[in-house]
Amino acid sequence: MKSKFVILTSLVAVGTILASFRYSEGVAEESPTIAYPTGYRNWTHVKTYIVGPKSLAFKFIGGFNHVYANERALQGYKSGHFYNGSVIVSDVIEAKEDSVDIREGRRHHLDVMARDSIKYADSGGWAFEEFSGDSETRILTQMTTTICSNCHAKKEGYVYSDYRK
Ligand code: HEC
Repeated sequence: MKSKFVILTSLVAVGTILASFRYSEGVAEESPTIAYPTGYRNWTHVKTYIVGPKSLAFKFIGGFNHVYANERALQGYKSGHFYNGSVIVSDVIEAKEDSVDIREGRRHHLDVMARDSIKYADSGGWAFEEFSGDSETRILTQMTTTICSNCHAKKEGYVYSDYRK
């Protein structure tokens, strides 16, 4: 419980910083090297979590967060060891609530993590990227990717989610 609170609190701080960089610096000048995860909708669905309006992170990742793993990453989820070539996507989709149900709205962005223990050695062997909406436009700068990796570094192995049966 306590650690969840800490994560949420830091999400807000980070979100505020992310927002200011994103909008003050515009499109990432120093593009990281993660490729757009073409075909990720055919990968394995790991889990979905919903970030609701009461969450401090709502402004940044509010809505459905559907997590997908490519084949390598799926092995990693199962074995606890992620080999190079593992890619994990979090598909962030608006949640639209009517009087009865909650349904998917528009895609907000994709959060992507890719593993290369040599290339990304400085950030625990993982690189981070965001792609805007349905496009392949990158929206992180090198500074903002550091914010992603700093938070993920708090979790051993950098991957927070688990794969349920
Ligand atoms: C303040 C902490 C924090 C920051 C900052 C953060 N994340 Fe995460 N991220 C998490 C947590 C916690 C989860 C798992 C949520 C769950 O499974 O319920 C997660 C999940 C993910 C996942 C799914 C794989 C996994 O680790 O479970 C991806 C991909 C991801 N984040 C990418 C990013 C990217 C890209 C950024 C930067 C734009 C970022 N994250 C910033 C905490 C953070």
